[in-house]
Amino acid sequence: MKNVLIVKGHFIYTKTPERFEVYESSCLVSVDGKVEGIYPVIPDRFKGCPVHDYGNRLVIPGFVDLHLHAAQFFQSGIGMTKQLLDWLSDYTFDLEREFQNRKFAREAYTCFAEKLVACGTLRACIFASSSTAGTEELFEVLKEKRIGAYVGKVNMDRNAPDFIIETTEESLRGTKYLIEKYQGENRVKPIITPRFAPTSTPELLKGLGDLAVKYDLPVQSHLSENMDEIRWVQDLFKGAKNYSDVYFKNNLFGQTKTVMAHGIYLDDDEKALVKKMDLMLAHCPDSNINVRSGIMPVRTYLDMGIKIGLGSDIAGGHKIGLNEAMVRAIQLSKLLNLENDKLKPLTVSEAFYMGTKSGGSFFGKIGSFEKKFCFDALVLEDDPMIAQRYSLEDRLEKFIYAGDDRNICARYVEGKKL
Ligand code: GUN
Ligand code: FE
Repeated sequence: MKNVLIVKGHFIYTKTPERFEVYESSCLVSVDGKVEGIYPVIPDRFKGCPVHDYGNRLVIPGFVDLHLHAAQFFQSGIGMTKQLLDWLSDYTFDLEREFQNRKFAREAYTCFAEKLVACGTLRACIFASSSTAGTEELFEVLKEKRIGAYVGKVNMDRNAPDFIIETTEESLRGTKYLIEKYQGENRVKPIITPRFAPTSTPELLKGLGDLAVKYDLPVQSHLSENMDEIRWVQDLFKGAKNYSDVYFKNNLFGQTKTVMAHGIYLDDDEKALVKKMDLMLAHCPDSNINVRSGIMPVRTYLDMGIKIGLGSDIAGGHKIGLNEAMVRAIQLSKLLNLENDKLKPLTVSEAFYMGTKSGGSFFGKIGSFEKKFCFDALVLEDDPMIAQRYSLEDRLEKFIYAGDDRNICARYVEGKKL
Protein backbone atom coordinates (compact mmCIF):
# COMPACT_ATOMS: atom_id res chain seq x y z
CA MET A 1 0.00 0.00 0.00
CA LYS A 2 1.37 3.38 -0.95
CA ASN A 3 1.83 6.11 1.62
CA VAL A 4 -0.62 8.86 0.69
CA LEU A 5 -1.08 12.22 2.40
CA ILE A 6 -3.38 15.02 1.38
CA VAL A 7 -2.61 18.56 2.46
CA LYS A 8 -5.14 21.35 2.06
CA GLY A 9 -4.33 25.06 1.99
CA HIS A 10 -3.05 27.75 -0.39
CA PHE A 11 0.04 26.53 -2.27
CA ILE A 12 2.73 28.86 -3.63
CA TYR A 13 6.01 27.89 -5.27
CA THR A 14 8.27 28.86 -8.16
CA LYS A 15 8.63 26.57 -11.16
CA THR A 16 10.67 29.27 -12.92
CA PRO A 17 12.29 32.38 -11.41
CA GLU A 18 9.96 34.76 -13.24
CA ARG A 19 6.73 34.08 -11.38
CA PHE A 20 4.98 32.37 -8.52
CA GLU A 21 2.64 29.47 -9.18
CA VAL A 22 -0.36 30.05 -6.94
CA TYR A 23 -3.03 27.45 -6.10
CA GLU A 24 -5.71 28.94 -3.89
CA SER A 25 -7.68 26.63 -1.54
CA SER A 26 -6.39 23.41 -3.08
CA CYS A 27 -5.42 19.85 -2.19
CA LEU A 28 -1.86 18.63 -2.67
CA VAL A 29 -1.51 14.87 -2.88
CA SER A 30 1.79 13.37 -1.73
CA VAL A 31 2.43 9.71 -2.58
CA ASP A 32 5.43 8.03 -0.95
CA GLY A 33 6.88 11.43 -0.13
CA LYS A 34 6.58 12.80 -3.69
CA VAL A 35 4.14 15.34 -5.06
CA GLU A 36 1.50 13.62 -7.18
CA GLY A 37 -0.42 16.78 -8.03
CA ILE A 38 -2.36 19.78 -6.78
CA TYR A 39 -6.13 19.57 -7.32
CA PRO A 40 -9.14 21.82 -6.65
CA VAL A 41 -10.82 18.94 -4.77
CA ILE A 42 -9.57 15.54 -3.60
CA PRO A 43 -9.63 13.17 -6.63
CA ASP A 44 -11.90 10.14 -6.16
CA ARG A 45 -9.01 7.69 -6.14
CA PHE A 46 -7.58 9.38 -3.03
CA LYS A 47 -10.83 9.63 -1.08
CA GLY A 48 -10.44 8.24 2.42
CA CYS A 49 -6.70 9.00 2.64
CA PRO A 50 -5.43 11.07 5.60
CA VAL A 51 -5.93 14.82 5.23
CA HIS A 52 -4.05 17.65 6.96
CA ASP A 53 -6.25 20.70 6.50
CA TYR A 54 -4.53 24.07 6.92
CA GLY A 55 -7.51 26.20 5.91
CA ASN A 56 -6.47 29.75 5.10
CA ARG A 57 -2.75 29.16 5.62
CA LEU A 58 -0.01 29.26 2.99
CA VAL A 59 2.01 26.18 2.12
CA ILE A 60 5.42 26.74 0.47
CA PRO A 61 8.45 24.55 -0.32
CA GLY A 62 11.00 24.13 2.49
CA PHE A 63 14.07 26.34 2.33
CA VAL A 64 17.40 25.10 0.98
CA ASP A 65 20.50 26.66 2.54
CA LEU A 66 23.49 25.99 0.29
CA HIS A 67 26.15 27.25 2.68
CA LEU A 68 26.48 27.47 6.45
CA HIS A 69 28.80 26.53 9.29
CA ALA A 70 27.14 24.53 12.06
CA ALA A 71 30.14 24.98 14.36
CA GLN A 72 29.82 28.76 14.13
CA PHE A 73 26.17 28.96 15.21
CA PHE A 74 26.96 30.31 18.70
CA GLN A 75 28.97 33.08 17.12
CA SER A 76 26.09 34.45 15.04
CA GLY A 77 26.06 38.22 15.37
CA ILE A 78 29.49 38.45 17.03
CA GLY A 79 32.65 40.02 15.63
CA MET A 80 30.70 41.73 12.89
CA THR A 81 33.01 44.72 12.59
CA LYS A 82 35.94 42.57 11.42
CA GLN A 83 36.91 41.61 7.91
CA LEU A 84 37.03 37.96 6.89
CA LEU A 85 40.60 36.93 7.71
CA ASP A 86 40.73 38.75 11.08
CA TRP A 87 37.27 37.48 11.94
CA LEU A 88 38.45 33.93 11.35
CA SER A 89 41.59 34.27 13.46
CA ASP A 90 40.14 36.47 16.23
CA TYR A 91 36.88 34.58 16.80
CA THR A 92 36.05 31.61 14.63
CA PHE A 93 38.93 29.21 15.10
CA ASP A 94 38.65 29.35 18.92
CA LEU A 95 35.02 28.36 18.78
CA GLU A 96 35.53 25.62 16.18
CA ARG A 97 38.22 24.12 18.43
CA GLU A 98 35.55 23.29 21.06
CA PHE A 99 34.00 20.75 18.71
CA GLN A 100 36.83 18.34 19.42
CA ASN A 101 34.84 17.63 22.58
CA ARG A 102 31.99 15.26 21.67
CA LYS A 103 29.70 16.40 24.48
CA PHE A 104 30.08 20.06 23.55
CA ALA A 105 29.60 19.17 19.89
CA ARG A 106 26.43 17.18 20.55
CA GLU A 107 24.86 19.97 22.60
CA ALA A 108 25.88 22.82 20.34
CA TYR A 109 24.87 20.98 17.17
CA THR A 110 21.49 20.16 18.71
CA CYS A 111 20.86 23.89 19.36
CA PHE A 112 21.95 24.62 15.81
CA ALA A 113 19.76 21.96 14.21
CA GLU A 114 16.69 22.92 16.23
CA LYS A 115 16.93 26.54 15.15
CA LEU A 116 17.69 25.60 11.54
CA VAL A 117 14.59 23.43 11.29
CA ALA A 118 12.45 25.91 13.25
CA CYS A 119 13.35 28.59 10.69
CA GLY A 120 12.27 26.36 7.81
CA THR A 121 15.51 25.06 6.33
CA LEU A 122 14.86 21.43 5.42
CA ARG A 123 17.92 20.82 3.21
CA ALA A 124 21.38 22.28 3.74
CA CYS A 125 25.04 22.06 2.73
CA ILE A 126 26.85 22.29 6.03
CA PHE A 127 30.44 22.79 7.16
CA ALA A 128 31.12 21.13 10.54
CA SER A 129 34.63 21.68 12.02
CA SER A 130 37.98 20.00 11.46
CA SER A 131 37.21 17.46 14.19
CA THR A 132 36.22 14.03 12.87
CA ALA A 133 34.53 13.06 16.16
CA GLY A 134 32.67 16.37 16.29
CA THR A 135 31.51 15.95 12.70
CA GLU A 136 30.23 12.46 13.51
CA GLU A 137 28.04 14.08 16.18
CA LEU A 138 26.61 16.46 13.61
CA PHE A 139 25.68 13.58 11.30
CA GLU A 140 23.87 11.88 14.18
CA VAL A 141 22.04 15.03 15.31
CA LEU A 142 20.82 15.78 11.78
CA LYS A 143 19.69 12.20 11.22
CA GLU A 144 17.53 12.48 14.34
CA LYS A 145 16.01 15.71 13.01
CA ARG A 146 15.08 13.92 9.77
CA ILE A 147 16.03 16.80 7.46
CA GLY A 148 18.26 16.43 4.42
CA ALA A 149 21.86 17.61 4.46
CA TYR A 150 25.31 17.31 3.02
CA VAL A 151 27.75 17.44 5.93
CA GLY A 152 31.47 18.09 5.59
CA LYS A 153 34.33 17.61 7.99
CA VAL A 154 36.37 20.77 7.39
CA ASN A 155 39.80 19.94 5.96
CA MET A 156 42.69 22.25 6.87
CA ASP A 157 46.39 21.41 7.12
CA ARG A 158 48.10 24.80 7.17
CA ASN A 159 47.80 28.54 7.84
CA ALA A 160 45.56 28.30 10.89
CA PRO A 161 46.40 27.78 14.58
CA ASP A 162 47.96 24.41 15.49
CA PHE A 163 45.01 23.60 17.72
CA ILE A 164 42.67 23.41 14.77
CA ILE A 165 44.67 22.10 11.82
CA GLU A 166 45.56 18.46 11.23
CA THR A 167 48.35 16.81 9.30
CA THR A 168 47.46 16.07 5.69
CA GLU A 169 47.24 12.35 6.50
CA GLU A 170 45.01 12.85 9.55
CA SER A 171 42.68 15.13 7.66
CA LEU A 172 42.30 12.67 4.76
CA ARG A 173 41.99 9.66 7.07
CA GLY A 174 39.17 11.30 9.09
CA THR A 175 37.37 12.27 5.89
CA LYS A 176 37.60 8.72 4.55
CA TYR A 177 36.29 7.31 7.81
CA LEU A 178 33.19 9.55 7.66
CA ILE A 179 32.60 8.79 3.98
CA GLU A 180 32.66 5.06 4.62
CA LYS A 181 30.43 5.37 7.66
CA TYR A 182 27.79 7.65 6.12
CA GLN A 183 27.83 7.24 2.34
CA GLY A 184 24.89 4.83 2.39
CA GLU A 185 22.61 7.25 4.26
CA ASN A 186 19.71 8.46 2.21
CA ARG A 187 19.24 11.96 3.61
CA VAL A 188 22.30 13.09 5.59
CA LYS A 189 25.31 12.47 3.39
CA PRO A 190 29.01 13.33 3.27
CA ILE A 191 30.47 16.10 1.13
CA ILE A 192 34.15 16.86 0.52
CA THR A 193 34.93 20.15 2.29
CA PRO A 194 38.33 21.83 2.00
CA ARG A 195 37.80 24.99 4.10
CA PHE A 196 39.34 27.13 1.35
CA ALA A 197 42.53 27.15 -0.68
CA PRO A 198 44.68 29.14 1.81
CA THR A 199 44.31 26.58 4.63
CA SER A 200 45.06 23.64 2.31
CA THR A 201 48.39 22.33 1.05
CA PRO A 202 48.45 21.19 -2.59
CA GLU A 203 48.79 17.61 -1.24
CA LEU A 204 45.59 17.95 0.78
CA LEU A 205 43.67 19.34 -2.19
CA LYS A 206 44.92 16.50 -4.40
CA GLY A 207 43.95 13.89 -1.79
CA LEU A 208 40.47 15.40 -1.40
CA GLY A 209 39.91 15.56 -5.16
CA ASP A 210 40.94 11.91 -5.41
CA LEU A 211 38.38 11.00 -2.72
CA ALA A 212 35.64 13.02 -4.43
CA VAL A 213 36.23 11.20 -7.72
CA LYS A 214 36.76 7.75 -6.18
CA TYR A 215 33.54 7.86 -4.13
CA ASP A 216 31.66 10.16 -6.54
CA LEU A 217 31.00 12.66 -3.78
CA PRO A 218 29.96 16.29 -4.01
CA VAL A 219 32.33 19.12 -3.08
CA GLN A 220 31.85 22.40 -1.22
CA SER A 221 34.26 25.19 -0.37
CA HIS A 222 34.77 28.96 -0.38
CA LEU A 223 35.80 30.81 -3.54
CA SER A 224 36.85 34.39 -4.21
CA GLU A 225 35.12 36.01 -1.25
CA ASN A 226 37.48 38.79 -0.17
CA MET A 227 40.30 40.73 -1.88
CA ASP A 228 42.93 39.92 0.77
CA GLU A 229 42.01 36.26 0.50
CA ILE A 230 42.42 36.35 -3.30
CA ARG A 231 45.86 37.96 -3.03
CA TRP A 232 46.82 35.32 -0.48
CA VAL A 233 45.79 32.52 -2.85
CA GLN A 234 47.85 34.09 -5.67
CA ASP A 235 50.82 34.16 -3.33
CA LEU A 236 50.43 30.59 -2.10
CA PHE A 237 49.66 28.93 -5.44
CA LYS A 238 52.08 30.62 -7.84
CA GLY A 239 51.46 28.24 -10.74
CA ALA A 240 47.68 28.67 -10.76
CA LYS A 241 45.94 30.78 -13.40
CA ASN A 242 43.46 32.10 -10.88
CA TYR A 243 41.67 31.07 -7.66
CA SER A 244 39.26 28.68 -9.41
CA ASP A 245 42.16 26.94 -11.13
CA VAL A 246 43.55 25.85 -7.72
CA TYR A 247 40.43 23.76 -7.16
CA PHE A 248 39.95 22.80 -10.80
CA LYS A 249 43.42 21.27 -11.12
CA ASN A 250 42.64 19.06 -8.13
CA ASN A 251 39.27 17.69 -9.28
CA LEU A 252 37.41 19.96 -6.87
CA PHE A 253 35.63 22.20 -9.35
CA GLY A 254 32.73 20.46 -11.04
CA GLN A 255 34.39 17.13 -11.80
CA THR A 256 31.79 15.97 -9.29
CA LYS A 257 28.77 18.03 -8.22
CA THR A 258 30.19 21.20 -6.64
CA VAL A 259 28.90 24.19 -4.72
CA MET A 260 31.20 27.13 -4.05
CA ALA A 261 30.26 29.88 -1.61
CA HIS A 262 30.57 33.53 -2.70
CA GLY A 263 32.52 33.76 -5.98
CA ILE A 264 32.26 37.55 -5.80
CA TYR A 265 35.36 38.59 -7.76
CA LEU A 266 35.59 36.02 -10.56
CA ASP A 267 37.48 37.05 -13.69
CA ASP A 268 36.12 36.23 -17.15
CA ASP A 269 37.99 32.91 -17.40
CA GLU A 270 36.67 31.85 -14.01
CA LYS A 271 33.09 32.76 -14.87
CA ALA A 272 33.37 30.73 -18.06
CA LEU A 273 34.79 27.78 -16.10
CA VAL A 274 32.04 27.98 -13.48
CA LYS A 275 29.49 27.84 -16.28
CA LYS A 276 31.24 25.10 -18.22
CA MET A 277 31.68 22.86 -15.16
CA ASP A 278 28.04 23.45 -14.18
CA LEU A 279 28.97 24.68 -10.72
CA MET A 280 26.46 25.97 -8.23
CA LEU A 281 27.33 29.24 -6.51
CA ALA A 282 25.97 29.93 -3.04
CA HIS A 283 25.17 33.61 -2.71
CA CYS A 284 25.47 34.64 0.95
CA PRO A 285 24.50 38.30 1.00
CA ASP A 286 24.39 38.86 4.79
CA SER A 287 27.86 37.43 5.21
CA ASN A 288 29.19 39.46 2.31
CA ILE A 289 28.01 42.65 4.01
CA ASN A 290 28.96 41.71 7.58
CA VAL A 291 32.58 40.80 6.97
CA ARG A 292 32.78 43.49 4.28
CA SER A 293 33.58 41.13 1.44
CA GLY A 294 31.71 42.80 -1.41
CA ILE A 295 28.59 42.36 -3.49
CA MET A 296 28.11 39.38 -5.77
CA PRO A 297 27.12 40.50 -9.30
CA VAL A 298 24.09 38.24 -9.21
CA ARG A 299 22.29 39.64 -12.24
CA THR A 300 25.40 39.34 -14.38
CA TYR A 301 25.84 35.70 -13.35
CA LEU A 302 22.16 34.86 -13.87
CA ASP A 303 22.25 36.44 -17.34
CA MET A 304 25.21 34.18 -18.17
CA GLY A 305 23.20 31.13 -17.07
CA ILE A 306 25.28 30.46 -13.94
CA LYS A 307 23.34 28.53 -11.29
CA ILE A 308 22.89 30.38 -8.01
CA GLY A 309 21.33 29.31 -4.72
CA LEU A 310 21.32 31.07 -1.36
CA GLY A 311 23.29 30.56 1.83
CA SER A 312 22.94 32.03 5.30
CA ASP A 313 26.69 31.44 5.82
CA ILE A 314 26.15 31.27 9.56
CA ALA A 315 28.12 32.86 11.17
CA GLY A 316 29.46 35.29 8.57
CA GLY A 317 25.74 35.77 8.15
CA HIS A 318 23.98 36.58 11.43
CA LYS A 319 20.50 35.11 10.78
CA ILE A 320 19.83 31.46 10.07
CA GLY A 321 16.38 31.91 8.47
CA LEU A 322 16.85 31.72 4.71
CA ASN A 323 14.10 34.29 4.15
CA GLU A 324 16.67 36.79 5.48
CA ALA A 325 19.06 35.82 2.68
CA MET A 326 16.27 36.32 0.13
CA VAL A 327 15.63 39.82 1.45
CA ARG A 328 19.29 40.80 1.54
CA ALA A 329 19.89 39.41 -1.95
CA ILE A 330 17.13 41.66 -3.25
CA GLN A 331 18.38 44.66 -1.29
CA LEU A 332 21.96 44.29 -2.53
CA SER A 333 20.78 43.85 -6.11
CA LYS A 334 19.05 47.23 -5.77
CA LEU A 335 22.30 48.87 -4.70
CA LEU A 336 24.00 47.49 -7.82
CA ASN A 337 21.08 48.72 -9.89
CA LEU A 338 21.54 52.26 -8.52
CA GLU A 339 25.08 52.23 -9.89
CA ASN A 340 24.17 50.59 -13.19
CA ASP A 341 20.57 50.60 -14.33
CA LYS A 342 21.24 47.75 -16.79
CA LEU A 343 21.53 45.40 -13.80
CA LYS A 344 17.88 44.78 -13.00
CA PRO A 345 17.17 44.25 -9.28
CA LEU A 346 16.08 40.77 -8.24
CA THR A 347 12.36 40.21 -7.89
CA VAL A 348 10.79 38.42 -4.95
CA SER A 349 10.06 35.37 -7.07
CA GLU A 350 13.67 35.23 -8.27
CA ALA A 351 15.01 35.35 -4.71
CA PHE A 352 12.49 32.75 -3.61
CA TYR A 353 13.45 30.50 -6.52
CA MET A 354 17.13 30.73 -5.55
CA GLY A 355 16.33 29.72 -1.97
CA THR A 356 14.07 26.82 -2.96
CA LYS A 357 14.15 25.21 -6.41
CA SER A 358 17.54 26.43 -7.60
CA GLY A 359 19.36 25.49 -4.38
CA GLY A 360 17.19 22.37 -4.20
CA SER A 361 18.51 21.13 -7.54
CA PHE A 362 21.80 20.39 -5.76
CA PHE A 363 19.91 17.72 -3.81
CA GLY A 364 17.67 16.37 -6.59
CA LYS A 365 13.99 17.09 -7.15
CA ILE A 366 13.67 19.46 -4.22
CA GLY A 367 12.25 22.94 -3.72
CA SER A 368 9.08 22.90 -5.83
CA PHE A 369 5.60 21.36 -5.79
CA GLU A 370 5.79 20.11 -9.37
CA LYS A 371 4.90 16.47 -9.91
CA LYS A 372 7.57 14.01 -8.64
CA PHE A 373 9.28 16.62 -6.44
CA CYS A 374 9.84 15.59 -2.81
CA PHE A 375 7.08 17.01 -0.68
CA ASP A 376 9.23 19.23 1.57
CA ALA A 377 7.02 22.02 2.84
CA LEU A 378 6.43 24.79 5.36
CA VAL A 379 3.00 25.88 6.54
CA LEU A 380 2.84 29.60 7.29
CA GLU A 381 0.67 31.17 9.90
CA ASP A 382 -0.09 34.87 9.63
CA ASP A 383 -2.32 37.32 11.43
CA PRO A 384 -5.97 36.82 10.37
CA MET A 385 -6.44 40.57 9.86
CA ILE A 386 -3.50 40.63 7.47
CA ALA A 387 -4.57 37.39 5.80
CA GLN A 388 -7.98 38.90 5.12
CA ARG A 389 -6.63 42.05 3.56
CA TYR A 390 -3.85 40.89 1.23
CA SER A 391 -3.38 38.57 -1.73
CA LEU A 392 -1.60 35.24 -1.28
CA GLU A 393 1.55 36.61 -2.96
CA ASP A 394 1.54 39.68 -0.70
CA ARG A 395 1.22 37.44 2.33
CA LEU A 396 4.19 35.39 1.20
CA GLU A 397 6.24 38.53 0.58
CA LYS A 398 5.39 39.75 4.06
CA PHE A 399 6.55 36.46 5.57
CA ILE A 400 9.81 36.64 3.61
CA TYR A 401 10.51 40.23 4.69
CA ALA A 402 9.08 40.39 8.19
CA GLY A 403 8.44 36.81 9.30
CA ASP A 404 10.47 34.28 11.24
CA ASP A 405 10.21 30.86 12.89
CA ARG A 406 7.15 31.98 14.88
CA ASN A 407 5.21 32.14 11.61
CA ILE A 408 5.96 28.54 10.62
CA CYS A 409 3.39 26.22 12.15
CA ALA A 410 4.26 22.91 10.41
CA ARG A 411 7.11 21.37 8.44
CA TYR A 412 7.17 18.34 6.12
CA VAL A 413 10.11 16.41 4.74
CA GLU A 414 9.41 13.86 2.00
CA GLY A 415 5.75 13.75 2.88
CA LYS A 416 6.23 13.26 6.63
CA LYS A 417 5.36 15.89 9.20
CA LEU A 418 8.31 16.70 11.47
N1 GUN B 1 36.57 31.36 4.30
C1 GUN B 1 37.24 30.40 4.97
N2 GUN B 1 36.62 30.04 6.09
C2 GUN B 1 35.52 30.78 6.14
C3 GUN B 1 34.44 30.85 7.08
O1 GUN B 1 34.40 30.15 8.10
N3 GUN B 1 33.46 31.73 6.79
C4 GUN B 1 33.48 32.50 5.67
N4 GUN B 1 32.48 33.34 5.43
N5 GUN B 1 34.47 32.46 4.80
C5 GUN B 1 35.49 31.61 5.03
FE1 FE C 1 31.32 30.22 4.85
